[in-house]
Amino acid sequence: MKKIVILISGRGSNLRSILQAQRLKAWEADTVQVIANRPQAHGIAVAKEFGVPVTILDHQACHSREEFDAQLLEKTQSFKPDLVVLAGFMRILSQEFVQFFQHRLMNIHPSLLPSFPGLKTHAAAIATGVKWHGATVHFVTQEMDVGPIIAQGAVPVFPDDTQPTLEQRVLQIEHSIYPQAIEWFIQGRLHIEHGNVRVEPAQQQFFQLPITP
Ligand code: GAR
Repeated sequence: MKKIVILISGRGSNLRSILQAQRLKAWEADTVQVIANRPQAHGIAVAKEFGVPVTILDHQACHSREEFDAQLLEKTQSFKPDLVVLAGFMRILSQEFVQFFQHRLMNIHPSLLPSFPGLKTHAAAIATGVKWHGATVHFVTQEMDVGPIIAQGAVPVFPDDTQPTLEQRVLQIEHSIYPQAIEWFIQGRLHIEHGNVRVEPAQQQFFQLPITP
């Protein structure tokens, strides 16, 4: 059994999709801990619903960024995870953390990277008038939103989209590509070659939602 630790900050809809997939598809892996950096994160209730223990590491209760970073690294290491999953974790990780969990640290970002790194991706997509938007699952490296891409999911952008309607559509694809990427990892099917991720045996790493609004 591989061990997964999931880090969250908020709503926990990706967390739910991962825990549902783990249960439904009987993964050879167990989510042994959810760590939240906000005591009021709704995702804490989601973890409890699935019987997953939660650690709350409130960054606001720490005296400095360094103190929080050190606690987060120590706590996460203590569970000896094979994979650390960032599911809407809105803190920048320390270099030590990223280095320690290199190639076993995944993130989901709500855009088709390298377009729109950072925050407010849906508003940026609407403002620039792109016709496709989406989400990216990638391994985390020192540079934010840049690591090797495992899977991408595209959704159409409609002329009357607003930030909430587009976010909802992107979340739908997030909830299918993130569990898929984690499943590949658990099955040992992800290989990084020259900074690019391949799935072996080969499987399509791009997904899309139906075009109908
Ligand atoms: C998701 O849209 C995820 O892609 C995004 O935060 C949201 C979390 O939602 N992550 C980032 O922006 C990371 N830079 P959730 O709590 O419902 O899973």
